[in-house]
Amino acid sequence: MEDVLILGIETSCDETAAAVVKNGEEVLSNVISSQVALHAEFGGVVPEIASRNHLEKIDEVIRLAIKEAGISMQELTAIAVTVGPGLVGALLVGVSEAKALAFALGKPLIPVHHIEGHIAANFISNPECEPPFVCLVASGGHSHLLLVEDYGKIRIYGRTRDDAAGEAFDKVARAVGLGYPGGPKLEKMAKEGNPHAYHFPTAKMEDAPYDFSFSGVKSAVLNEMNRKKMLGEEVRVADLCASFQENVTEVLSEKAIALCKELHINRLSIAGGVAANGKLREKMEEKAKQEGMEFFCPKLILCTDNAAMIAAAAYHEWKKGNFAGHDVNAYPSLSL
Ligand code: KG4
Ligand code: ZN
Repeated sequence: MEDVLILGIETSCDETAAAVVKNGEEVLSNVISSQVALHAEFGGVVPEIASRNHLEKIDEVIRLAIKEAGISMQELTAIAVTVGPGLVGALLVGVSEAKALAFALGKPLIPVHHIEGHIAANFISNPECEPPFVCLVASGGHSHLLLVEDYGKIRIYGRTRDDAAGEAFDKVARAVGLGYPGGPKLEKMAKEGNPHAYHFPTAKMEDAPYDFSFSGVKSAVLNEMNRKKMLGEEVRVADLCASFQENVTEVLSEKAIALCKELHINRLSIAGGVAANGKLREKMEEKAKQEGMEFFCPKLILCTDNAAMIAAAAYHEWKKGNFAGHDVNAYPSLSL
């Protein structure tokens, strides 16, 4: 069979990304232009700045992705793009670009759900990670515990009731003065601290055991910090970070393993920005090993937003002939 070369485009939040992936698993190029520095002074992503910057960068990022892949535009099999969920203005830049390219080149256009993209990052790093498997998707906007029954066929068992896991990392990091983006900075600080210095609460949800809630632990960290400040005591930020990270990664890994056991699935994976967290990767791997389960995680660069994961997810849609018309739009609240 002829090779399938898919150009993926991702602009749902604050990374302008384009990548070429061969046969759903071999990354020929993976270009990411991050806007982190632009948003840092505001302490979070500013939607209007994000859209404007995507507009400025998108052509160059795509041109580089094609060049680094060593192919011509005409050799592409299809164009894939994230259509949602995400910031509407940001998504529209990628969707418009993808539609224009697909039309001009006469190639099929494949719409991709951002979360399905994150899950598909596992297919690139680990081709042996085949459905069915349980996947924990934890990013800045989502925390889902789900079963991947087949490619593109997902059943959700748990979701967050309030903050997403990455959002909680970001908020705690900002409150303790680490700035934005919080996740990686908090992880670094936690390395200097004692993970058992504090025992923060974990939410129990009897009616939905696989749902998450991170606002309680987040508030507990902030309250402890404020209490110490009021008493004039030293605030050990590293201990707060380490204990917070211990709490969140323990909850995420415990629930993921419990779902595998209940469903009698012995293949587990993680995806999304928080999957880049070393403590989470370590805990998941350790617990999966104890239970005799296989554990997969994407390479670090494929955990946070990128377009290779979008092209990888699109490969399986291409096989099924799931193409979009040129009337496809951006869907900011697209559900799974
Ligand atoms: O998947 P992603 O790049 O964007 C969304 O789809 O949201 O995830 C970004 C999130 C942010 O909240 C960021 O703080 C978190 O992932 N994150 C981390 C780490 N790296 C990124 N959280 C914890 N530890 C990390 N090393
Ligand atoms: Zn993402």
